[in-house]
Amino acid sequence: MPTRSTSSSSIARASAPPNIALVKYWGKRDSILNLPAVDSISVCLEGPRTLVELAPSSCLRVGWNGDRLPEGLLPPYRRLLSHLLGPLCALDVQVTTALPVAAGLAGSAAAMAALAVAASSLADRPLHTHQLSAAARLGSGSAARSVPDGFAYWQRGSDPLGTDSFATSFAGPDHWPELRICALLLETGPKTVSSTEGMIRTATTSPLYEHWVASTNATAPRVRDLILQRDLQGLERLVLPQAMLMHAICMAASPPILYLSRRSLDLLSKLQDILPRDHWFATFDAGTNPIFFTLDSHLGQLESVLSELAPGVPLLISRAGPGARLEAGPGEF
Ligand code: PMV
Repeated sequence: MPTRSTSSSSIARASAPPNIALVKYWGKRDSILNLPAVDSISVCLEGPRTLVELAPSSCLRVGWNGDRLPEGLLPPYRRLLSHLLGPLCALDVQVTTALPVAAGLAGSAAAMAALAVAASSLADRPLHTHQLSAAARLGSGSAARSVPDGFAYWQRGSDPLGTDSFATSFAGPDHWPELRICALLLETGPKTVSSTEGMIRTATTSPLYEHWVASTNATAPRVRDLILQRDLQGLERLVLPQAMLMHAICMAASPPILYLSRRSLDLLSKLQDILPRDHWFATFDAGTNPIFFTLDSHLGQLESVLSELAPGVPLLISRAGPGARLEAGPGEF
């Protein structure tokens, strides 16, 4: 667990949670502005939150858990900051996070959402949550959904400049108190293919891509309604198939993109044999780690089966939580 930075020179601090998609974002209609081809839906996790601190600097510098990021990784930070503060954006950005990098657990989404909120406090006018969400999107698409609280709907929009492409909360963190979200950390290394490269390759080569776009845009409003009704069984019928369709279009790309591993698929099929279908459902981001949704009353059973099938593998258990927010002094985070 990294140590929290307590920089006394910081002029703005904000924190944000990871978000887990129940309807996946995959495919861009504009890859600079991160404008999506599809609507998507997610829930912010209660923890662990990522902290971003800003301090004055002579140029843009970004540190990630104390390690300086190379220049080649700075364009998304520069895009986000220059959108909010103008083209100079000479700042020292320190990111402190306990999330594994690029493991499909929304580590960059949390960082970009926190960065948007911290940077907006330096701007000369206050911004609405939807403007902060659109700004976070410039750093990493899915970051748009780590800004609003609880359950978020990211509308793809149609404006070429993206003014109508942002996420809004449709249910707060307390909407479904019994819901538990559990990430099984089978692997914590970086993805084999980055999501940006994967999205471009899928859109340009996968014969299933057009079907994916139409199907996802029809599924998203249905998933939102099922969340509003707290209908775990209804969600079980839609969420994993939609995630598997994302993996299917990736597998059908040329060359194929394979995010799931034999281990994750074996585990899924054993769980399907053991656990009653109406007690849980799973999803996979662009990685091998399954994320389970269940209710508090079934959590013990899920934990005990997972500890037998995947002994020693960390299980991160969370619930719905608030989105990005400004933090006060270093001692108060
Ligand atoms: O925000 P990006 O570019 O890292 O894309 C993330 C896409 C998925 O995590 C695979 C799905 C999603 O909607 O979060």
